[in-house]
Amino acid sequence: MRILFIGDIVGSVGRQALKTYLPKLKAKYNPHWIIANGENAAAGRGITAAITKELFEQGVQGITMGNHTWDQKEIFDFIDKEERMVRPANFPEGTPGRGLAYIKLKDAELAIINLQGRTFLPPLDCPFEKANKLVEQARKRTKFILVDFHAEATSEKIAMGWHLDGKVTAVVGTHTHVQTNDERVLPQGTAFVTDVGMVGPRDGILGMERNAVLQKFKTQLPVRFVVDEGKWHFHAAVIDLDPATGLARKISMVRMDEDRLLFE
Ligand SMILES: [Fe+2]
Ligand SMILES: [Fe+2]
Repeated sequence: MRILFIGDIVGSVGRQALKTYLPKLKAKYNPHWIIANGENAAAGRGITAAITKELFEQGVQGITMGNHTWDQKEIFDFIDKEERMVRPANFPEGTPGRGLAYIKLKDAELAIINLQGRTFLPPLDCPFEKANKLVEQARKRTKFILVDFHAEATSEKIAMGWHLDGKVTAVVGTHTHVQTNDERVLPQGTAFVTDVGMVGPRDGILGMERNAVLQKFKTQLPVRFVVDEGKWHFHAAVIDLDPATGLARKISMVRMDEDRLLFE
């Protein structure tokens, strides 16, 4: 069994790359589940109902979010009803939406859990404690559990990998939009990577138009960032798991860009 996890999809370039290449990735890897981070899908900021529908129509089965969850106001109209979307579980009690969801396919269920780090990000509830609670809850129902830990600091993400080693199928990091090359299966059987990366504009800065970001760094004045256009890159993780234990056998990374495809 196999999970394809797709890094933060950024804007229309990212959505177009997904539309073009997800069918090819599906044919190549034949994943049982396809999960994607959608926190930047709407012009780099949040997600809309129409884009959520579009991602599901293209074959994504579960969507994880992050610090940009609330950027599009209309999310408040549908997040409570959308059972295939998770936002960080360690937001305060009473926050709309859910942090744990179950993606059922054929006769197997994958629990997806979204958590957000607290280093260089707002001070949410403890993600490690929250992980304990949700993993315990999910394990009563399924042995297949994927955690998207949306965090800035590499150390915090690696800490979460060790914290959950042997308890979940995979801990994948998101948020930085830069793929790390430290993917491995930890000793107790949990697949881990510090950051999966992104799907979206390749020649900007983390998906945003680079001149505006450069200007911000150089002048420190307020600058409006817009999502970039042009060529894309596509980052994802492929996790092979043992159907008997739910633990991982292998994790490998997908890293393509418009000029360097995996399918040539
Ligand atoms: Fe992101
Ligand atoms: Fe983020």
